[in-house]
Amino acid sequence: MKPYALITGASQGFGKAMALEFAQRNMNLVLVALPNSGLSELSIFIKQILIVDVHYLELDLSSIESSYKISSYLENNNLSIKYLVNNAGVLSRGFFTELDDNYILKQIEVNVTTPTLLTKLLLNNLRNNAPSGILNISSMASFFALPKKQVYGGTKAYLTSFSRSLAKELKQDGVSVTIICPGGLNTTTRLCYQNRLMGWITRQSVLNPEDAATIAVDALLKRKTMVVPGFINKCLMILDKLLPEIIKDKLAEREINKLPAST
Ligand SMILES: NC(=O)c1ccc[n+]([C@@H]2O[C@H](COP(=O)([O-])OP(=O)(O)OC[C@H]3O[C@@H](n4cnc5c(N)ncnc54)[C@H](OP(=O)(O)O)[C@@H]3O)[C@@H](O)[C@H]2O)c1
Repeated sequence: MKPYALITGASQGFGKAMALEFAQRNMNLVLVALPNSGLSELSIFIKQILIVDVHYLELDLSSIESSYKISSYLENNNLSIKYLVNNAGVLSRGFFTELDDNYILKQIEVNVTTPTLLTKLLLNNLRNNAPSGILNISSMASFFALPKKQVYGGTKAYLTSFSRSLAKELKQDGVSVTIICPGGLNTTTRLCYQNRLMGWITRQSVLNPEDAATIAVDALLKRKTMVVPGFINKCLMILDKLLPEIIKDKLAEREINKLPAST
């Protein structure tokens, strides 16, 4: 039986683009997202048009049980996982003082707890299919101190650090760990709108999810450790090392102030 790529948060945005990218490369899929998010329609489309096998699970990844349910489903259906893509994420939303407690907890559960636990639970499956790989979707926000992205940036900094250490541990097992750190992606309607309000350089740095998906899957298959997609984003990473903190703060503040008050 051909192995599968398991993608969390595959119903829309970057996750959906990666599902299509894997399917175009003839990879069977296990897709996960919240109930009623269109996974059933997406699965039927991929099966019919791209002729690969697709399973889907509708689960709330903010609950710990969801990781155990995914693991049991794979075991019960005897599905071999070659690639695990921890993509599902709760995005940033405003100043810390204004964030709802439950929103913060959910963000930590979806962005930190679930990718960590799912990686642990699927490790034997991945080891049995080595050479295999884990693709963790972090963010450029994991490197910077940005207002309105405090908890989000913190969760992504965790994911980046966790992935870098894990990559070293799993090398001997033939399981690679790749981290992709996108800047802006035109995924949700809110982000597409916000990205248009930004300055010229930020606007040039924004990628569409399909291009970022090609870069991410290529990096996973080449077993790279870390990728910042897009030429301008790579330049921004270099500039970050060269510019003094005071100038970086001013530039970041100027961009953040362009956002509508409620975001
Ligand atoms: N967009 C950007 O600018 C950007 C930049 C850097 C990094 N990233 C990262 O890229 C990843 C994807 O982002 P995106 O922009 O594509 O976001 P998105 O369009 O909001 O998609 C998020 C995905 O995660 C799923 N998800 C969220 N909460 C969930 C939960 N509790 N249970 C199950 N599934 C859940 C969503 O499923 P439903 O459809 O069921 O809600 C959806 O499939 C995230 O990890 C994000 O941090 C995004």
